[in-house]
Amino acid sequence: MEKEKFYITTPIYYPSDKLHIGHSYCTVATDTMARYKRLRGYDVMFLTGTDEHGQKIERIAASQNMTPKAYTDKIVIGIKELWRTLCISYDKFIRTTDDYHVKTVQKIFKQLYDQGDIYKSSYEGWYCTPCESFFTEHQLVDGKCPDCGRDVELLKEESYFFRLSKYQDRIIKYMEENPEFLQPNTRQNEMINNFLKPGLEDLAVSRTSFKWGVPVEFDPGHIVYVWVDALSNYISALGYGSEDDSLFRKYWPADVHVVGKEIVRFHSIIWPAMLMALDLPLPKKIFGHGWLVINGGKMSKSVGNVVDPNVLVDKYGVDAIRYFLLREIAFGQDGNFNNEALIQRINSDLANDLGNLVSRTVGMIEKYFGGTLPQARTATAFDEDLKAMALSTTEKVENAMEDMFFSDALIEIWNLVRRTNKYIDETQPWILCKDEEKKAELANALYHVAESIRIISVLIEPFMPNTPQKIWKQLCITPGDMTAWDSTKTWGVLPAALKVEKGETLFPRIDMKKELAELEAAIKASQATNLANQSKQQQEKKEEAQEDAYPAEITIDDFCKVQLKVGEVIESNAVEGSKKLLRNVVKFAEEERVIFSGIKGTYAPGELVGKRVVVAYNLKPRKMMGEMSYGMILCAEDGDGKLSILTTDDKDFASGSGIS
Ligand code: MSP
Repeated sequence: MEKEKFYITTPIYYPSDKLHIGHSYCTVATDTMARYKRLRGYDVMFLTGTDEHGQKIERIAASQNMTPKAYTDKIVIGIKELWRTLCISYDKFIRTTDDYHVKTVQKIFKQLYDQGDIYKSSYEGWYCTPCESFFTEHQLVDGKCPDCGRDVELLKEESYFFRLSKYQDRIIKYMEENPEFLQPNTRQNEMINNFLKPGLEDLAVSRTSFKWGVPVEFDPGHIVYVWVDALSNYISALGYGSEDDSLFRKYWPADVHVVGKEIVRFHSIIWPAMLMALDLPLPKKIFGHGWLVINGGKMSKSVGNVVDPNVLVDKYGVDAIRYFLLREIAFGQDGNFNNEALIQRINSDLANDLGNLVSRTVGMIEKYFGGTLPQARTATAFDEDLKAMALSTTEKVENAMEDMFFSDALIEIWNLVRRTNKYIDETQPWILCKDEEKKAELANALYHVAESIRIISVLIEPFMPNTPQKIWKQLCITPGDMTAWDSTKTWGVLPAALKVEKGETLFPRIDMKKELAELEAAIKASQATNLANQSKQQQEKKEEAQEDAYPAEITIDDFCKVQLKVGEVIESNAVEGSKKLLRNVVKFAEEERVIFSGIKGTYAPGELVGKRVVVAYNLKPRKMMGEMSYGMILCAEDGDGKLSILTTDDKDFASGSGIS
């Protein structure tokens, strides 16, 4: 029989060498779901990857003297390494810089343009010239650039727009008819009431102000802006729009996109609208999980070692970290990440409840039966209750997992772990062993405990990829029929006469006081390093600024590369929507050029007309306000931003003259 398919995705990550435990949360949860579905016999496709385009990456790469691609290549290695450390079992890793993805995005863009869902217009926003970035009113901080804190100006840029507004009613209808579509339910109401009902605006989907992105094939100079590029990954990864789209036909629509709450809007509104425009089915479910916070605040690696997943896994092991993330925080809600809670969970749930259960069971089988698992013969009064609980746990876990309520699933499993420990206390093997006549009862009790551990070991598999094997090794269980998911629904699967063997402690107990003190010291050390780095960076910036003020010496050959010319300003007009710019027409002998200049604060429109100005003449032309600007009018600038244009002593000097 053909397996049923299950397609699950994480968001694609912005390349960063600072992925913290909060980033890992989403991927660990998705991985757990993928593992669960595989165990249930599904043909799973689990996709993750990186979202590599955009101005930010372009800038970071430039600051490191690297091409954006070389920079992201480097970061992606680290991200893949982290996923290996966290045992993330993805089937495919997509990079938005992959050729096939770029081609698909271009194809989608063209199709939407051809059918009228994308149209050309202009984008108006607040522009920060030094950062070369547009911001919405909303993004500004006290009316200034949110990145550098400097003044911004209202500018227009030519852009392609996606007709998002056209799909608003269809999306509302879809959400209302499919209450399962966006989970948890509260997110659906939030989208409908806060975004859809007030009305959607068309979305700017191209930019001309930077270059690092997928080029719009039919309009050079434009690159596809962020979301059309990023969201398409979910179908381009399956070969949509390529010669071989068999994976797409097999796996689409996605069964679930797992995303953080801040990107739910893009996934539940923009993505469905794009899919509707492409006439493709919508994903079955979007799950918007909550955020991991630290002391109620946003997580960032600058908080120190405490949130570095590599450090945490090194210290406590990957299974403990995965368990903590999924047990401590209800998926869908925000949760506090806290070392004390982590150590508490490791000590109580893992070391005490599960670890101890396994080690004392194996220890007793060794001690009372020479290491050979005995046959279950004489029933004890406590058997039925344990059996009933063990056999009903799987169904409860399945129900919770279908809803992605990971913590509920773990609570059910740990109820069984604790019930099994209680069974040991009830049957008291250490007393039974003293009476030869009770040997059969003792054997029965230990068999029951071992069988319950077998069931537990299978149920924890999606969450903890390494612990089950360690348990099986100790109980001498060969993975296969005895560890299949459905085997947890049958009692008595363990064959008697298995040879058990005590192994390593599954979860060593942690000395809370000592550990917290060590962690605090580590955090302080890391904060001190951060501070030192910050002051080093400030020093470097200061030195750079000094270097800017006194540039390195250049040779006459370098200087000769700059062509300076005298030109006559024949027009100088204000630019609609810009506080700083003047649009000048400058005449060089017979030639006239448009040159934009940020001098409106000093010179009124028209004031420069007739003046001779000095122009950097062979500067690469650049698009400003939707029009090309050819050159730069030179100005003197004092420290307070006051400007004065450079001119010739003879005010009628021939325009077009060179400067040497
Ligand atoms: N590139 C976009 C996603 C595009 S998907 C078509 C993006 N990338 S991201 O790197 O910023 O975030 C990746 C995921 O990490 C998001 O789902 C985000 O919610 C999640 N997290 C980042 N910090 C987090 C926490 N502190 N806690 C939980 N998850 C958080 O967004």
